[in-house]
Amino acid sequence: MGDWTWDYEGYDPGDERLRESMCTLGNGYFATRGAAPECAADSVHYPGTYVAGCYNRLTSEVAGHLVENEEMVNLPNWLPLRFRTGTSDGAAPWFTPDTVTLLDHRLSLDLHSGTLERHVRYEDAQGRRTHARQLRLVHMAQPHLAALRTEFTAENWSGDIEVEAALDGAVTNAGVDRYRQLNGDHLTHVRTGTCAADTVWLRCRTSTSGIRIGLASRTTVEGPVTRTCDHLAELRAAQLLQLPLVQGRTTTVDKTVALHTSRDPAISDPLRSSVDRVSRAPGFDALLSSHRTAWRLLWRRAALDVAGEAGRILRLHLFHVLQTLSPHTADLDVGVPARGLHGEAYRGHVFWDELFVLPYLNLHFPEVSRALLRYRHRRLEQACLAARDIGRTGALYPWQSGSDGREETQLLHLNPHSGRWLPDHSRLQHHVGSAVAYNVWQYCEASGDTEFLHTKGAEMLLQIARFWASSAAYDESLGRYRIRGVVGPDEYHDAYPGAEEPGLDDNAYTNVTAAWVLSRTLDVLRALPEPRRRELFERTGLDGAELDRWEDVSRKLRVPFHAGVISQFDGYGDLAELNWDAYTARYGDIRRLDRILEAEGDTVNRYQASKQADVLMLGYLFSPNELKELFRRLGHELDEQTWHDTVDYYLRRTSHGSTLSGLVHGCVLARVRRAEAWKYCREALEGDIADLQGGTTGEGIHLGAMGGTLDLVQRGLTGLETRSGALWLDPVPLPELSEYGFALRYRGHWGVRLRMRHGKLEVSVPASDRSPIAIVLPDRAVSVDPGESCRLTLRDR
Ligand code: BGC
Repeated sequence: MGDWTWDYEGYDPGDERLRESMCTLGNGYFATRGAAPECAADSVHYPGTYVAGCYNRLTSEVAGHLVENEEMVNLPNWLPLRFRTGTSDGAAPWFTPDTVTLLDHRLSLDLHSGTLERHVRYEDAQGRRTHARQLRLVHMAQPHLAALRTEFTAENWSGDIEVEAALDGAVTNAGVDRYRQLNGDHLTHVRTGTCAADTVWLRCRTSTSGIRIGLASRTTVEGPVTRTCDHLAELRAAQLLQLPLVQGRTTTVDKTVALHTSRDPAISDPLRSSVDRVSRAPGFDALLSSHRTAWRLLWRRAALDVAGEAGRILRLHLFHVLQTLSPHTADLDVGVPARGLHGEAYRGHVFWDELFVLPYLNLHFPEVSRALLRYRHRRLEQACLAARDIGRTGALYPWQSGSDGREETQLLHLNPHSGRWLPDHSRLQHHVGSAVAYNVWQYCEASGDTEFLHTKGAEMLLQIARFWASSAAYDESLGRYRIRGVVGPDEYHDAYPGAEEPGLDDNAYTNVTAAWVLSRTLDVLRALPEPRRRELFERTGLDGAELDRWEDVSRKLRVPFHAGVISQFDGYGDLAELNWDAYTARYGDIRRLDRILEAEGDTVNRYQASKQADVLMLGYLFSPNELKELFRRLGHELDEQTWHDTVDYYLRRTSHGSTLSGLVHGCVLARVRRAEAWKYCREALEGDIADLQGGTTGEGIHLGAMGGTLDLVQRGLTGLETRSGALWLDPVPLPELSEYGFALRYRGHWGVRLRMRHGKLEVSVPASDRSPIAIVLPDRAVSVDPGESCRLTLRDR
């Protein structure tokens, strides 16, 4: 394995789903899992192709209830390419790793080229050995194209091989076992046809969202072909080829596929566009070459250089982030899907996970961040309606978002341990609005995009702030505002023990971020050009009295404390202590303690046990100084001791049932107790490659954690903040990650390089006619001119 390749030797049916996720290829427009082209979906294999933002809504009956679910649709499979020897009576089985003797199997994911190479050697019943080498790509420059090259070599025989290349419309959403009882038949009106001697097509549409999908597939052979014919079935368009193989010589079959949907801009009909595109597509070699160039350019913009195994994993994470959110995403109306375009877990929904991904993108691909924020802005009206539906004003963004921005969180979820369907209250995670606001602010600070800040950004901030103010009720006895009935990032706790109604009061994370949103929004409104401020006030009915209330709420929201630490919510400290040792001894892996306890007839709501970082998220989002300032504004002195005690307290009470948890703890501990940070950073790095959340990676990667690990280096270790027109740096040395370098795009400067080595930080600004960059360290400030670099020796911490 080199620095840029990930190899998977052998064939292990139990591991196949994980490999398929990790070997997914995509380009931000669509992605296809790294499944074996000769295998259809079954209990081992799951080929899936997903176009960003292509959703469909279906109703299913679950536990006696009718439930509606919107899902990212598994589109017709363009991969199928199967083969067999001994075709005379047509009875020989198609070769698959599960049906024919498999001599060798190897997958190699090449991050630099964005290709997946596969070697497979089969031996048939007559002892004939055939080697197939496959190379596949999902084109990074032409986002509607994909290609699969297969090179066949007969090793110890000569004779005919039969090959079938197909487009398969008989697919459903069936990639997640827990969702098996849900209706997954999203495609209707499947039609197939032939449009040229070497090209077949398939079209269909999604059943309720009415998205039309068109695919065309061209199959060409380099070498002699004995016979070809098309086989068009209702749901499958196949091309059959008979190839005479000569021992030791290689025959190449290239399959080139185009995919369009009616959501694409600048097309008239998706099928027509696909047919045109595939007919004009160059041969495989030319496609490969332009694809590699596109990746090379992407890597240049996203340069991240970290030594050792951590660097290798970070590159893999960056690869999957870029395959989900690439410059092509900038043209689309899509959000950040929590599980990438890599599988069907969480149904392709968009959660708060963009909070972990955008800060990275802001400083490399600001146009992509902007597009992802526009996805939120287009759904602002829907969010305002959601707030109105619960009797509030402003905007309530949904916990899970899909096509139109309504709340997509399911009403019931399955506990696979108990087999019970249970009410799902995670929609009470209103804090997602703060994540949107935080991203608006961070994006604008990093990019200097005041146009966005003053228009769409201000509109979102205003409505999110308004929602928080309207959610806060003044409690005379406490002299504080309270936000009640919510769920924090730790979704284990969704109600007080024995309570009739779900929701918790005074979640510290919710309240502190709400206070931040309110005060930031006040700043932004104050800084707006006067005509624009007037316009916004008139349009939204905002007036001085409302602003006064925001000011008041932003200073008096309640942050509960107990035993000298910040309380996750009011009453957290009164809950029972869990016997962690006993549960670990009994169950081993207790990450999903909520499911374990429910299956035992108990509930995690009774215990001081958290799924993931909740209070500690504050230390992830805000620098120590900013956090202190926020608390001061709320009337509390947050001294170092209180924060350290708070970190210790929750560290002992968190099961890390989300991949986001290790990441946040790693970042926070890097500043608090360095010696322990690496354990959590490593967990964040290994979350998907080692499938730490027990089989969930096979259902899609964890994009938030992957993006977050990039940000762990970019902002976590450097302490980088983009604030008041300067780059603020406050590096923390982490022995295991002590040398790193990366390039940033900052306020019109392309390729600003930061390099940390031997406790020295070097900042280089590429030559341009732009202004110098101001760098602020805790003990000094410097200015670096374009074309210059500076080396800063860091003060020992
Ligand atoms: C986590 C959430 C996250 C979601 C999607 C859940 O397990 O608790 O914080 O947003 O996964 O990644």
